[in-house]
Amino acid sequence: MTPSPDLYDVVQYPAFAFPDTHPSRLATMALLHGLEPAAVQQCRVLEIGCNEAANLIPMAHAIPRSEFVGFDLAADPIARGQARIQALGLTNIRILQVDLLEAEQVPELSGTFDYIIAHGVYAWVPPAVRERLLGFCRDHLAPNGVVFVSYAALPGGHIRMLARQILLLREHQPEEASTGVRESTDFLKFIARCRPEGDGFRVLLEREVENMERRGPEVVFHDELAAAYQPVSFTQFANHAAEHGLRYFTEAEFPAPKDPCFQADTAAAIQQLAGGDPLAQEQMLDFARMRMYRQSLLCPQAAVFTYDLQADALRRLFMTSQAESTEGSSAGSRSYTLPGGLRIETVHPATIAVLDFLIARNPESVSFADVSAVLEQQGLLVPAELLMLIMRLVIARMIDLDAWQAPVTRTVPDRPLASAVCRNDSLGGIHLTTLLHTTLKLDDPIARQLLLLLDGTRDRDALLRDLTSALPEVAPQALAEGIGPALELLSRTGVLEAPRA
Ligand SMILES: C[S@@+](CC[C@H](N)C(=O)[O-])C[C@H]1O[C@@H](n2cnc3c(N)ncnc32)[C@H](O)[C@@H]1O
Repeated sequence: MTPSPDLYDVVQYPAFAFPDTHPSRLATMALLHGLEPAAVQQCRVLEIGCNEAANLIPMAHAIPRSEFVGFDLAADPIARGQARIQALGLTNIRILQVDLLEAEQVPELSGTFDYIIAHGVYAWVPPAVRERLLGFCRDHLAPNGVVFVSYAALPGGHIRMLARQILLLREHQPEEASTGVRESTDFLKFIARCRPEGDGFRVLLEREVENMERRGPEVVFHDELAAAYQPVSFTQFANHAAEHGLRYFTEAEFPAPKDPCFQADTAAAIQQLAGGDPLAQEQMLDFARMRMYRQSLLCPQAAVFTYDLQADALRRLFMTSQAESTEGSSAGSRSYTLPGGLRIETVHPATIAVLDFLIARNPESVSFADVSAVLEQQGLLVPAELLMLIMRLVIARMIDLDAWQAPVTRTVPDRPLASAVCRNDSLGGIHLTTLLHTTLKLDDPIARQLLLLLDGTRDRDALLRDLTSALPEVAPQALAEGIGPALELLSRTGVLEAPRA
């Protein structure tokens, strides 16, 4: 009997890079909690359930002295990833078709890893695979290693479970994933509309449908409709990890500025109820958050860490700011707005000096020592005060932290070189993974054509000449005027590479 094909071979799962899984992020969070993670520029990274390695390939390109290994049960995504690795000529990455249940016997997966990533696997596999996932992490984690595990969480997962039960009323055939899922979500909308407008149940279901429509039918097919789907509470997850010799120490991202943990009344009440137990506190906060998804970080049982953030670790980290600086509403004030719309306004001279300095250097990251030197020069703050200020701006999301400096450049070089991964990405679609490990949607045809020419051999004249012959339908004048802003956009978004040493 021929084995039935893996569903991930039949219905392609969209392949993206996830900034929260990047070793630089994992190292940052580890350092802030008092751990001593491996240096990002020379580490060993494993991704379990890596799909076609859209997450690992850009890392391998950007961090050439580190080693990357990935595996997945589905054969087709692995074959696509292997073809891409070959096309890019990367020698520091290997991906394999392996079942996690048999991974222990695979020589390429032996030894230990400094960072292990399991994105979108834990809650979407049968119990035996979930057990092995944590067991494998324990057995292959370096003593100072960090594990990233994302999962569907409770209590928010109850709503997804409810939506799933309704969606599962209909049998879903892989061949009709797209139309079938759409029909099912329409049915879910119909069920929601049976309730009066403003009704709590209706609001919850409609929000769930919105969420599904945003993620697309292929993702819903594999996530909500998978044979195995098991959201877990934070406590269940942390206990499960502990059974496997792993300890939860934090999430991969900071809570949003409006999170209940930053609301003084809620935080104080929960702290008291939890009796000083940080894990119980985290669980209670999840009820207040109605949390439905987590990206938890684990370390070996024996590792020493603190649940509280260690501001001193900022001295070892690098900073960037994605904010836009504009005049504020009152004399002397400045307003800082993030791409997603978060905004602060301040008249505080040190805050203005730090943010304006980082914004001028973005996307290049800056060390604490460099920020500190600028502030001292201006007689604004001593380093100890600066630590607290930066920590507050990190919590406000105005500053991003990194344990590694991405090889990007703020200044457009004479012969610009775009990341080979971005150029390769643009052959297949409009989404590129930048050197910052972010996703850039590049749909402007001139910028896309220009990107393909940025192989580091052409100066501006050569770029204009070759762009003109590639796009004869566009007026040369428009191309000449468009090159500068397009190069500026590509440098600001982390597509252009800094000259490598
Ligand atoms: C929901 S997808 C997530 C893919 C990718 N990590 C992401 O987040 O986009 C789950 C992945 O786990 C893989 N997987 C499921 N069971 C597995 C097993 N037993 N061994 C290895 N990979 C497995 C699937 O093939 C699929 O690629």
